[in-house]
Amino acid sequence: MVDFKTNIAQALAKETGVDCEQLCGWLEVPPEREMGDYALPCFKLSKTMRKAPPVIAQALHDALTPQQEALCLERIETVGGYLNFFLDKAMVAREVVSEVLQAGPRYGGSDKGVGKTICIDYSSINIAKRFHIGHLSTTVLGNALYKIYQHLGYKCVGINHLGDWGTQFGKLIVAFKRWGTREQVEQGGVDALSELYVRFHQEAENEPALEDEGRYWFKKIEDGDQEALSLFNWFKELTLKDAQRVYDLLGVHFDSYAGESFYNDKMGRVIDELEAKGLLTESQGAKVVDLSDYNLPPCLILKSDGATLYATRDIAAALYRKDTYDFDKCLYVVAYQQNLHFAQWFKVVEMMGYPWAKDLEHVAFGMISFEGQTLSTRKGHVVYLDELLERAVEKTRAIIEEKSPNLEDKDEAARQVGIGAVIFNAMQAGRIKDIDFWWDRALNFDGETGPYVQYTHARCCSVLRKAQGYALDGQTQWDQLTDEEAQKTIMLLMRFPEVVEEAALRNEPSMITRHTVEIAKAYNKFYYEHRILDEDEKAAVARLQLTRAVRQVIAIGLGLLGIEAPERM
Ligand code: ARG
Repeated sequence: MVDFKTNIAQALAKETGVDCEQLCGWLEVPPEREMGDYALPCFKLSKTMRKAPPVIAQALHDALTPQQEALCLERIETVGGYLNFFLDKAMVAREVVSEVLQAGPRYGGSDKGVGKTICIDYSSINIAKRFHIGHLSTTVLGNALYKIYQHLGYKCVGINHLGDWGTQFGKLIVAFKRWGTREQVEQGGVDALSELYVRFHQEAENEPALEDEGRYWFKKIEDGDQEALSLFNWFKELTLKDAQRVYDLLGVHFDSYAGESFYNDKMGRVIDELEAKGLLTESQGAKVVDLSDYNLPPCLILKSDGATLYATRDIAAALYRKDTYDFDKCLYVVAYQQNLHFAQWFKVVEMMGYPWAKDLEHVAFGMISFEGQTLSTRKGHVVYLDELLERAVEKTRAIIEEKSPNLEDKDEAARQVGIGAVIFNAMQAGRIKDIDFWWDRALNFDGETGPYVQYTHARCCSVLRKAQGYALDGQTQWDQLTDEEAQKTIMLLMRFPEVVEEAALRNEPSMITRHTVEIAKAYNKFYYEHRILDEDEKAAVARLQLTRAVRQVIAIGLGLLGIEAPERM
């Protein structure tokens, strides 16, 4: 990784005896580049060096000046108690662009995570419900985190913790037996299941006994009754088939589909352990873990009829995941509405005495609304994800038709860009922010959008296609890339690895989204201000090298977000 700052800090550490990391923290980035690329306020050293800041600055200046070239510096200046470092622009270009091109698709990656495992619980859809836009964020955020951690060397386990347990499945069986037929459900798929479920609730208003029947059939599922199980598994199959279409469109995959029902036979351990550790208390017939010491409402573990709950299943799943994968971290990419749920059961795991409770992390995100409307299944405001994605591709197809009438494979480009736009849009702002999805915002080719970044990638590809005649394998005159626009672009490429690390640290893919936008903007400015395929071969070759590097980093950035990088659009 090119890291001019750390190199300077290392040199300073040798002279001062102060820890390199400490010095790195003290090195500031001045607001204007005329004041240097980095500045050290020397008063920080007055205590250790027992001298006035200007004296320290001068001494360090004299000591470091001979090493200037090795540190990629053009010059060092002292201004009062400040030591200002000016990077050599040509050397910066050489170091950064070569590094990007050498690393290839691995640029920004590392082996920091080698030997470590991260479980990521994402998408986690509910059986018998059609995939709607409410599950978009968890799906794309989880997928991006998977790719980001993988880039950093971690082994990732993607888990779709299916919502496949609860009395609603007993009700669904009742509804199916009463009003459904195999053919109708086979044909209608998950929609037919939802209709049956709605019908159940309507009919139950007049016939309350239906509820008991529903509970009865749910008990049968739990007890492993053949007929109940086979119906239940069929419902599950239909839902997953529907979901798979969406996952295919989005390019999302999972390593495990162990959902809530998977833990049916793993509940005993949780209850026994809680009991043995004296953590369970009775409350109106139910068993709970009291969390009043932590200012939290009690965590419900067992209902009075002995049924386990969502939290019980999450605890069982965490124990299972720790045993099976020995994770270093287990992430739960779930909306902030479930903050309390996670706070509660994470606490219970901690009280059970598991030190790894600290490795459980709720990666919360905001709500999504659609063109100003809050979504509600009950009120009929639902946006199905497959429809949304298909519509995005269609709309993009029309835009491409207008913008690039001569493009060869318009369908393929429309697919890449349409889907990419939706994914990009979902990760544009910090994840905790609520999102309002608007078509013209997501699909705007000129805004800070997926299409804009993809377009920049395609532009780089196009420039490079036209550059056949230039010898890109020979010497590059790096001093051709010292202009402001090139330098700005190069500095952003340089920072990319840092951004990837930071995105992982905060579980915030939007940092990569925003950084790729910045790179695209900087490169486009460069593109407009300078002729890339210049008659001056020296200039052209250098600009083409930068173009290659930009193309590479944008493709990596998009890839980490789960978005394709079209070569033509
Ligand atoms: N199925 C749940 C829902 O749609 C999300 C499950 C999240 N994962 C978990 N381990 N609790 O709200």
